[in-house]
Amino acid sequence: MGLTRLLSRPLTREQEPEDATQESEDQTPTPETGEPPRLATVIAFANQKGGVAKTTSTLNLAAALSEEDYRVLCVDMDPQGNLTMSQGLNPDSIDRSMFDVLVHRLPIDSVIEHKEVDLAVSSIDLAGAELALSSMIGRERALEKALAAVKENYDYILIDTPPSLGLLTINALVASDHVIVPVQCEYLSLRGLVQLENTLSMIRENLNPDVAIMGILPTMFDRRTLHAREAVEILEENFGDLVFKTRIKKTIRYAEAPVKGTSVLKYDPTGKAADAYRDLAKEVLNGAKARQHA
Ligand SMILES: Nc1ncnc2c1ncn2[C@@H]1O[C@H](COP(=O)(O)OP(=O)(O)OP(=O)(O)O)[C@@H](O)[C@H]1O
Ligand SMILES: [Mg+2]
Repeated sequence: MGLTRLLSRPLTREQEPEDATQESEDQTPTPETGEPPRLATVIAFANQKGGVAKTTSTLNLAAALSEEDYRVLCVDMDPQGNLTMSQGLNPDSIDRSMFDVLVHRLPIDSVIEHKEVDLAVSSIDLAGAELALSSMIGRERALEKALAAVKENYDYILIDTPPSLGLLTINALVASDHVIVPVQCEYLSLRGLVQLENTLSMIRENLNPDVAIMGILPTMFDRRTLHAREAVEILEENFGDLVFKTRIKKTIRYAEAPVKGTSVLKYDPTGKAADAYRDLAKEVLNGAKARQHA
């Protein structure tokens, strides 16, 4: 079908540093060793395309890591507030949110709700943050600064971003060690990856040399359609081992869980939908271990 022409060039994982010693931020936290606290590993979920399962993946990976006793903070950087809603909170009736953290330098602690996971909440105000930040010095580093205060308290910080490559997403990418890119297994979803990679290159050059794609996550996968299978093949041809082995299949469970204000792991703990994100958590944990021992 000529779909391979969608992606102009193969993109591969960033070169691992030759020196085996990794930054402490990059190491896998081990909750039971009694070692001194390590700083959280920060992962952003980004794709400027809307509706590819960024929010769903942020919450459910967080729930899966929590099940393994890791301390996880989710940060809702999307003015739509979908992540906040999916924990049963109403973004319209929230007094203080990430807007105040980013723009008024309120400590992030004061907007963290302790729900199924810890969550720094969003409200509709956040829509004004891009404009408010745009004239501020250090506008790209507001989130990085805010997170520094809580990085010792968590093993993982997972950031949900809006479907754009504006200042909120840039803040997330600057604050992150890694990026997970959820991609819907469809023709049109693949092209946007090149644009995201260009933005990441720009951020690496100017703001955060260490941020790298941890993996591309095929979502809403329907094995029955040739189209979905082809889309995954193209992903693997172009991105190789950067594509997670886990396939998040299409199922209504993921839409049902947020209505109850929970992750799918809590909503349907023994279902396949929950297991898919447990598999992803294993890949994330194993990948980090592999890097540690590289
Ligand atoms: N694997 C899946 N199968 C079926 N539906 C899914 C799946 N994952 C997510 N959904 C549903 O698809 C919709 C979009 O998902 P989600 O909100 O996570 O995407 P998003 O990338 O965060 O969107 P936005 O760009 O608007 O923030 C939601 O209704 C969600 O419940
Ligand atoms: Mg979302």
